[in-house]
Amino acid sequence: MREGDHVLDEGRQGEATVVAGPGAGARKLYLESYGCQMNFSDSEIVASILSDAGYQTTRDEDEADLVLLNTCAIRDNAEQRVRNRLVHFKGNKAKNPSLVVGVLGCMAERLREKLLEEEKLVDLVVGPDAYRDLPNLVDQVEGGQKAVNVLLSREETYAEISPVRLDSSGVTAFISIMRGCDNMCSFCVVPFTRGRERSRDPQSIVREAQELYDAGYREVTLLGQNVDSYKWNIDNKGVIKDETQPVVRFAELLEMVAAVNPGLRVRFSTSHPKDMTDDVLHAMSRHENICKYIHLPVQSGHSDVLKRMNRGYTREWYLDRIAAIRRIMPDCAISTDVITGFCGETEEEHQATLSLMDEVKYEMAFMFKYSERPKTLAERKFEDDVPEEVKGSRLQEVIARQMIHGKERTQALVGKVHRVLIEGTSKKRDDQFFGRTTHNTVVVFPKGDLQVGQYVNVKTFDCTPVTLMGEVTDQPAES
Ligand code: 5AD
Ligand code: SF4
Repeated sequence: MREGDHVLDEGRQGEATVVAGPGAGARKLYLESYGCQMNFSDSEIVASILSDAGYQTTRDEDEADLVLLNTCAIRDNAEQRVRNRLVHFKGNKAKNPSLVVGVLGCMAERLREKLLEEEKLVDLVVGPDAYRDLPNLVDQVEGGQKAVNVLLSREETYAEISPVRLDSSGVTAFISIMRGCDNMCSFCVVPFTRGRERSRDPQSIVREAQELYDAGYREVTLLGQNVDSYKWNIDNKGVIKDETQPVVRFAELLEMVAAVNPGLRVRFSTSHPKDMTDDVLHAMSRHENICKYIHLPVQSGHSDVLKRMNRGYTREWYLDRIAAIRRIMPDCAISTDVITGFCGETEEEHQATLSLMDEVKYEMAFMFKYSERPKTLAERKFEDDVPEEVKGSRLQEVIARQMIHGKERTQALVGKVHRVLIEGTSKKRDDQFFGRTTHNTVVVFPKGDLQVGQYVNVKTFDCTPVTLMGEVTDQPAES
């Protein structure tokens, strides 16, 4: 799940999710997650570490001994939501003085002093690389002290920790393949909150995928801030670390995970246009079980804005990558992220974003108003000079354009037979299941005698702007 103000995909929304999973023990943990898929994946690592320390997760905040908020710092409104929740939990603490409240994730480093000292909202602040220390830190708080660990690491990947699958239907799961980010996009706080990029041992990734398959899961999403720069056994300068071992880049990793079982679908997020190679596209086209869907954030359609954003590509480069996708996988779905009103954005530059959207016709888009973040290059170098109303009206134009394209894309899938993995009961109708096509489009259809986790061919006959309606068929799938 990504943190999105304006997301045109009903299936993947979620501002904050309360998670509950298995575990044994007397003490109760209430965990709330905000932000991107990576944060949700991290919460599963946190639940695993605390389950080993005797905590059981609960969905009921009133019975919790420990409340943890896994926070997001990507835009100011994400932070505001967390602050409101912390004020709420301060109220719970007044009723139950032994309650421990902690902040995890991306706001931890930024706000530790403020949260602990000035506002006295929390007892515990733990950054994304320090979760192994959580049991000690909680003990420290129970011993009457405040506890903090926001150290970032160059090595931590939590490689051997088996995540506790939270809020899971038992069909789809996230696998984190790398952490941090070295890109330094000028708008982005992530390099400061999550530290340097590091990749996880490929064998531990394949093992996790195999274990998930054996446990009945049928889809994994490989997660990283920039999956295209995944690398193992080779450094940033291209020097091989151990000559006796293979080098694994993202294309190889994808194929290794796809080889776990043809019945295991593989997705990934997020790709970076400057690093996405044809190797990855060829790997995708070779394996039917690698889903034909790429999230390729453009951010802006104008090369001057892209330069100010320090994205490392131009409009032409980006469109060349789109052309490569269309050439190698003509039916691949593509989604994007767009920011409106970045520093100095002119009307002409904004129009270039709209015209790029017209050229690509994305299946889906996550669209945001620029929000200045502390410490970033943009905060230091540029003025946040586009008025709030202009940012807002440009965002509305971008959303309106995406609505048209998304609807067109969905309509083009009507009348076809799609291979669908059943994920669960439809939110709107109890007698219907929902699942996804390889293109990540949600399909609803009558349940019949089917089961969650099965693949079925569904012939579609109608759609809303983002969802297909259909029925199960014996006809062969066209996608
Ligand atoms: N303001 C607005 N949107 C942002 N994003 C990242 N940083 C900011 C910011 N400061 C958006 C980008 C990114 C997505 C995860 O969030 O579009 O791809
Ligand atoms: Fe995820 Fe970025 Fe938000 Fe951190 S700041 S939770 S990495 S979206």
